[in-house]
Amino acid sequence: MELIETLRTTGAVREFTADAIDDETVYRILETARFAPSGGNRQGWRVILIKDPERRRRLRDLYLEGWYEYLAQTMAGLVPWAPLTDEEAERQAIGRAPELAEQAAAGPGGFAEHLESVPVLLLLLADLSALAALDKDLARYTFVGGASLYPFAWSIQLAARAEGMGGVITTMPVRRESAVRDLFDIPADFALAGLLALGRPVRQATWLGRNEVASFTTVDTFAGPQFSAPGTASNGGS
Ligand SMILES: Cc1cc2nc3c(=O)[nH]c(=O)nc-3n(C[C@H](O)[C@H](O)[C@H](O)COP(=O)(O)O)c2cc1C
Repeated sequence: MELIETLRTTGAVREFTADAIDDETVYRILETARFAPSGGNRQGWRVILIKDPERRRRLRDLYLEGWYEYLAQTMAGLVPWAPLTDEEAERQAIGRAPELAEQAAAGPGGFAEHLESVPVLLLLLADLSALAALDKDLARYTFVGGASLYPFAWSIQLAARAEGMGGVITTMPVRRESAVRDLFDIPADFALAGLLALGRPVRQATWLGRNEVASFTTVDTFAGPQFSAPGTASNGGS
């Protein structure tokens, strides 16, 4: 598949066919993704391929706890867990999560409720002794460490796409990191970075809703002219 086309059309996939994915395919995906970049080329990722049905079910339950907290915040008009947010509104919204869980239990459920049956589940861990977290001493929320993990996660998604598969990067289980740590015997110097779900898509997106370049790019200063498509009526573009 052509690279630009792939980059423009690889959306989140949360509905999978019942096709099992063999270990050879999973291995090939990881074998390609391992060429992802990381700070200082430390490659501080670690992957657990989750096969055990009981662990899958218990992970689903932990995922769901975060999922209903997420939904409750969305319904309250919040950006879930934004580092800058109205903490009180967030606390109140999260308090309504059990109610949502109860309502959802009566329905058919979606990706989250059926997580245990996703064909491939990869737990992504970060070796905290291998991350170049350049912002760790800043007073603000830190995120640079994650930048050494998520290109790898994205390469897994792209490599899966090349296999005719699809999937989604999820971070919901991180809300229950301590329980996930116990469930998978994860040592203290590793952090949970996410859970990758992969399989054969029921459908593949052909169009993705993304913001225009000019909405997030300016020239020279933060408040500088928008960088618009060259040739259009604007300022910063050439
Ligand atoms: C860092 C990160 C964390 C995400 N966490 C979750 C998650 O916990 N659960 C989930 O269903 N999707 C998760 N997503 C997927 C996003 O919701 C998805 O990429 C976004 O909504 C765009 O969807 P689209 O490709 O269908 O347009 C995550 C994506 C990223 C990059």
